[in-house]
Amino acid sequence: MSTLKKLLTASAVSASLAIGLSAVVQAQSLGTPINESQLQGFDLIAQPNGSGYPAGGGTAMQGKAIFEIRCVACHGMTGEGTSANTRLVGGDMQSEERPIRTVGSYWPHASTLFDYVQRAMPADAPKSLSSDEVYQVIAYVLHLNGIIENSLVLNKETLMQVEMPNKDGFIDSSQAL
Ligand code: HEC
Repeated sequence: MSTLKKLLTASAVSASLAIGLSAVVQAQSLGTPINESQLQGFDLIAQPNGSGYPAGGGTAMQGKAIFEIRCVACHGMTGEGTSANTRLVGGDMQSEERPIRTVGSYWPHASTLFDYVQRAMPADAPKSLSSDEVYQVIAYVLHLNGIIENSLVLNKETLMQVEMPNKDGFIDSSQAL
């Protein structure tokens, strides 16, 4: 290879390296760094083992008012739903027909309800409820499903004691391997 050709090849390689590098540098500078308090808004994991719950609490009686303002537009006055995905109450997993899965009939842990509502609901303004409001509104959803009394103060301790109707409807295969 002539010296000129070698030089040209070398500069082509370094040029493409340079383009590659600048793409990496540009990719790294996309977006803005997230700060601690923003991160906390995503770091919300409330688990069935009782970890990850905020302080606070309240009753279904208190939750009714929140539900009527923040949830009925999509979930109906008594949680009957406005679409197949938004029914929160009733349903039957033992039915001969196709089972209707709701929070009440299907979900095995009440903790999932806390976790999901805290993270994702109301769908038009996620994470806009205080921890007290989340406890209260899920107490109301549990009450509408006939699972708890409307005077029970739901908090991190009492939530762990709530027995969901379908708690034995799943097979835990996490230890199988
Ligand atoms: C703007 C409409 C809207 C509002 C308001 C809203 N939701 Fe939802 N919600 C949805 C939709 C849509 C889904 C289904 C999401 C999916 O399937 O991915 C859903 C799903 C849920 C579920 C899970 C149901 C299941 O069986 O999968 C729960 C629980 C829930 N919402 C609770 C609430 C509560 C409590 C409020 C009030 C604080 C609320 N939602 C307000 C639209 C809404």
